[in-house]
Amino acid sequence: MIEEYRQWLPVTDDTPVITLNEGNTPLVRSRELSRVTGCEVWLKVEGANPSGSFKDRGMTVAVSRAVEAGASVFVCASTGNTSASAAAYAARAGATAAVLVPRGNIAVGKLAQAVVHGARIVEIDGNFDDCLRAARRLAEQYPVALVNSVNEDRIAGQQTVAFEVVDALGDAPDIHCLPVGNAGNITATWLGYTTYNKAGRSTRTPRMFGFQACGAAPLVNGTVVERPDTIATAIRIGDPASRDGALAARDQSGGIISAVTDQQILAAHRMLATAEGLFVEPASAAGVAGLLAEHEAGRVTSGRTVVVTVTGNGLKDPDTCLSIGHAPVTSSADPDRVAHALQLA
Ligand code: F0G
Repeated sequence: MIEEYRQWLPVTDDTPVITLNEGNTPLVRSRELSRVTGCEVWLKVEGANPSGSFKDRGMTVAVSRAVEAGASVFVCASTGNTSASAAAYAARAGATAAVLVPRGNIAVGKLAQAVVHGARIVEIDGNFDDCLRAARRLAEQYPVALVNSVNEDRIAGQQTVAFEVVDALGDAPDIHCLPVGNAGNITATWLGYTTYNKAGRSTRTPRMFGFQACGAAPLVNGTVVERPDTIATAIRIGDPASRDGALAARDQSGGIISAVTDQQILAAHRMLATAEGLFVEPASAAGVAGLLAEHEAGRVTSGRTVVVTVTGNGLKDPDTCLSIGHAPVTSSADPDRVAHALQLA
């Protein structure tokens, strides 16, 4: 990804490029969302990145730059995806990832990734916001590089998602929807659109539609949420670090930041899986849930081009999926009984 978009990224010929060939993810036209909304709706499938989420776009830049600066330990706080990505790129760099995660509140697949890549993992008695405060402090007091999205190199790398959308569609969409947690991604996606637009690569910039979960919606409430709660653990964040960037993206683009319920998230998650063939993690469905809610409220008129970032792969959170889905039935191997179990007979 760095090679494709090198001119827009904070790298020089001396930067050692640490890459897993992230980016260039599928942009899939959504038949169902296009039908329901009367818009042209496209899904940017970021779960197709090497570690299974959009975080890899920022991590390749942050880790490359940190290695250039001589760092050998990268630290981050995470609801799971940042830690999985940091662990993978640290392994690639021959370095160490130190990850702080909220105990009991990260999806099992993400924890498995950090374990298998050999990260040093500390489960914190607290939420993501507590983890981030601790990570920032560590980076001030110890020789470690902070690779959360408060690191500008992460934001710079994550803007490439907007470049890819414009390159694929030939222009920017009218609306770009995405989930919002720590708010780095909405900040970065908006930066990408404005950067490309200023360079004459697009004729317009989209309205940015960001969606938080109702139980973790500090940007909607206008105040920090002390005990954020949602089934979408990836965006279970009460005090987003990139708050200002998110609000600027909303206001400069004429967009919105709104909240969706866990029920709306799960309904969108199921719709993506059953009607589109896309298996995403619950948080990733928040942008789709939000688009549907805004359409129902009459705020998305037909005929628009809409892109929704679906941020992470469904395999990361099998527990949530199985707890909400239908359990398989059991049968002996006798074909007649199997046919009965399958409701064929
Ligand atoms: N979707 C997924 C799957 C995420 O993992 C995250 C953030 C977001 C959306 C929200 O993006 O924070 O830039 O607003 N995950 C972070 C993590 C916090 O630690 O993995 P954001």
